[in-house]
Parts: sequence; C-alpha cells; structure tokens
Amino acid sequence: MIFDTHAHYDSGAFNADRFEILSAMPGMNVGGIVNPGCDIESSRTAIALAEKYDFVYAAVGWHPEDIADKFTEEAFSELCTLAEHPKCVAIGEIGLDYYWDREHKEEQKKLFRRQIELALRLNKPVIVHDREAHGDSMEIVRDYPGLRGVFHCYSGSAEMAKELLKRGWYLGFDGPVTYKNARQSHEVIELCPTDRILIETDSPYLTPVPFRGKRNDSGKLIYVIEKIAEIKKLPPQEIERLTFINALKFYGLEDINVQT
Ligand code: NI
Repeated sequence: MIFDTHAHYDSGAFNADRFEILSAMPGMNVGGIVNPGCDIESSRTAIALAEKYDFVYAAVGWHPEDIADKFTEEAFSELCTLAEHPKCVAIGEIGLDYYWDREHKEEQKKLFRRQIELALRLNKPVIVHDREAHGDSMEIVRDYPGLRGVFHCYSGSAEMAKELLKRGWYLGFDGPVTYKNARQSHEVIELCPTDRILIETDSPYLTPVPFRGKRNDSGKLIYVIEKIAEIKKLPPQEIERLTFINALKFYGLEDINVQT
C-alpha cells in the first residue's frame, strides 16, 4: 500500500471529480493520504475530507504564500481550534516562500514560529514548505530542538539534509525526482536513510514523468517510488512498504490497522 503524505484534494483542480477520485484510491493501492491546509478555508476542507474518508487525514496550517492577502487573527484562532481535531495529524503546510513573496519576509517568519509553537503545544509534527528560503528556515528550525517535522518537497543541499537528519527530521520527495535535472535530490535520496524518507505527490501539482504537465493524484506516486527504488537499489515494493511505515510513524498512526 502507498501512503501519500502530502496532497491537496481541497484544491479547485479537483472540483469536478474530488469524491470520485478519492473513493477510487483504495482500489489504486493507496492506503493513506494526508491533506494539508494552506489557509483557513482549505484547512476546513481538509478536516471535512478527513471526516468523510477513513484513509484521509488532515493537517491544518497557513502557507507562507497565502499570508499577505488572506491572513486574519480571527481565522488563525479558528485554525488553532481545528488543529485539535482527532484526525488532524500535523500542522502544515507552513514555512517560508521567498520565491512567490519576498516582500513579507518578517510576517512569514513570525507566522512560521507561531505555528511551530502551536505544533509543539499539541505535540504534532510540522510540514514545512521552504522555497528559496533555506537559510532562514534552518535558522528558525534550530531554535526548536524538540520539534518533529518534514521538509516537504525537499529542495535544499546535501549539507542541509544531513543537518536536518541529525536533528531527527524527515525529508519529503515528490514528482520532481523523476525530472531530468534532479541530480541534487538524487544525491540527497542517496544519503537519506530509508527510515526518514516520506513520499508525497503535492497533488494537483508536481506530476511525475511520464505524466508531467497533467494533474497529479496519489495513484501516480508509483513513479516516485520507482525512482527512489532505483537510487536506493531496492525493489519498488520495499520502498512502498518502508515509506508506508514511515508515514504511520511520522503522523502517529501506528495504531491504525492496515496491511502494508
Ligand atoms: Ni503542498
């Protein structure tokens, strides 16, 4: 069974067939999905989807890209309440994005820290989005030694990966590992122990080869598994099994009864 640790089924890209596609997942060998939120609305939808489907779990969080035009204190306090939902398994996605928004760095950092503190208070891991903000992301992470988390769609250096692994963090890999220019992420996969790898689609984005350019969904995670298997010199079934176990452990779901 495959565990997609990061997919946005609340996205408008799934408006036409959201329920059909999610209902089809168990038949496509997908046994678990975590749907992170990016603002209050998508966090609400993530929780609603998790309530509807046994195998879907939610994370709630405020994405750095959505701070400037959407953030309100009132919405944030609702988000803090949603975070206590029993099917909310993490706080995310949160972090820093200097690719889309270089103008609100201070606001991004402040909200990143507030959400880390929320995660620590609730004893949940964080899902970190770090785009072109490696230095500042690491500086913040270093301030919270007890924090558990994943750098989703890991795009940093091998050196940074080593530091995160040493601190107990997980690294998330997506469709781009199948792209031609993925040399750096292959190097990181090579050095990353198999018990710290999480696989994710970031659906509807980051579709792997051979479907690059089309809408992504959790069924396409097999191409990411195959690439990681090739790099790790292990059978794809073994990567599928190990990453499923990693996801259960990371999100605190070891007690759920699924056949891996
Ligand atoms: Ni995402």
